[in-house]
Amino acid sequence: MDSLYIKQSNSDQLKDRPIIPLRYKKSTLISPKFFEFMEGKNCIVTGGNSGIGFETALALANFGANVTILSRNQEKAEASVKSIKAKSQNNNVDYILVDLSSQISLKDASNYILKEYDKIDILVNNAGAWFSKLELTDDGVERQLAVNHLAYFLLTHELLGALHNSDDARIICVGSDSHFHGKIHFEDLSLGKKYNGLKAYAQSKLANALFVYELNRQLKSRGIHNISINCVQPGLVKTDIGLKHSISLHGIIWRLRRMGGVSPAKGAETSIYLASADEAKSQSGKYWDKCKPKPSSKRSYNTEDAIKLWNISKDLCGIDDYFSPLIKENHL
Ligand SMILES: NC(=O)c1ccc[n+]([C@@H]2O[C@H](COP(=O)([O-])OP(=O)(O)OC[C@H]3O[C@@H](n4cnc5c(N)ncnc54)[C@H](OP(=O)(O)O)[C@@H]3O)[C@@H](O)[C@H]2O)c1
Repeated sequence: MDSLYIKQSNSDQLKDRPIIPLRYKKSTLISPKFFEFMEGKNCIVTGGNSGIGFETALALANFGANVTILSRNQEKAEASVKSIKAKSQNNNVDYILVDLSSQISLKDASNYILKEYDKIDILVNNAGAWFSKLELTDDGVERQLAVNHLAYFLLTHELLGALHNSDDARIICVGSDSHFHGKIHFEDLSLGKKYNGLKAYAQSKLANALFVYELNRQLKSRGIHNISINCVQPGLVKTDIGLKHSISLHGIIWRLRRMGGVSPAKGAETSIYLASADEAKSQSGKYWDKCKPKPSSKRSYNTEDAIKLWNISKDLCGIDDYFSPLIKENHL
């Protein structure tokens, strides 16, 4: 690790946090790249250390972009960055450690990103998790809702000013067709009364679609046309998502189920398409599967629910004005 340097905040505020974000970046040894059409594009991929996120980050690095992966595990993050650099011959790949279930950790990570980049071109909200049992975060939120929805909502808010500085900013939220079985349990968002992991997962994935459609509407109503946002369904993909926080029965079921799935590289294709294809530039507010838009569930088009969830999400994240980063940057 001779050419790594570490930036670490000395702020007292960082004490006692679950994970203190550290930023590692290789020095500027430039190697030839396979493609260079995304050179100069700054890309953030959450959960880029494994599965679909890793393949997405690798593709963007192959295209010559600057790629930062957000990961909660230093060892995995280091190994992934090393592997992406070796495979892509692109040294502009780094990582930030963040626990996406912790709002304070996420805000710290956002500050690091914003110190490094005043412009962000691609934000792939990809990290996701499955939990068999009810668990609450330090912020008091059910974990699947926190990681799969609120982290997308909050990170996008934090980075909105830098996204607006790009002339073609693209936000991609990785959802799931599981949302077709989902419902937002407004009366008991944590499902604490009778927890069911599948219901909580489906709820969080429905929240992805509702968020994407609502943010798209709100951006358009403010006359903001240089930021697009889309929701992606990757299909059934052979990853470890169903093993990490599972009781053993659910782990066995996931092992059997994923046998019918596609590879993570295949599962990443739609995210990569939306992040990089010229023709995807004008696309926003849609639900995508196999690089094509398709209808999402009836509930996902319920604008009343979308606004209700939006307001609850703002409250849960302590956000007063979602568009305040744009006001700060004099965009509004
Ligand atoms: N696999 C499928 O069949 C499938 C189907 C539909 C949708 N999806 C969606 O696809 C996305 C990617 O999932 P995947 O299948 O590629 O699973 P995966 O390999 O487990 O990747 C999920 C990523 O999210 C990260 N993550 C989870 N909780 C986190 C936290 N609190 N803080 C920071 N990072 C966290 C994981 O980190 P660790 O490596 O440290 O766990 C991992 O990098 C998810 O949004 C998932 O819901 C997957």
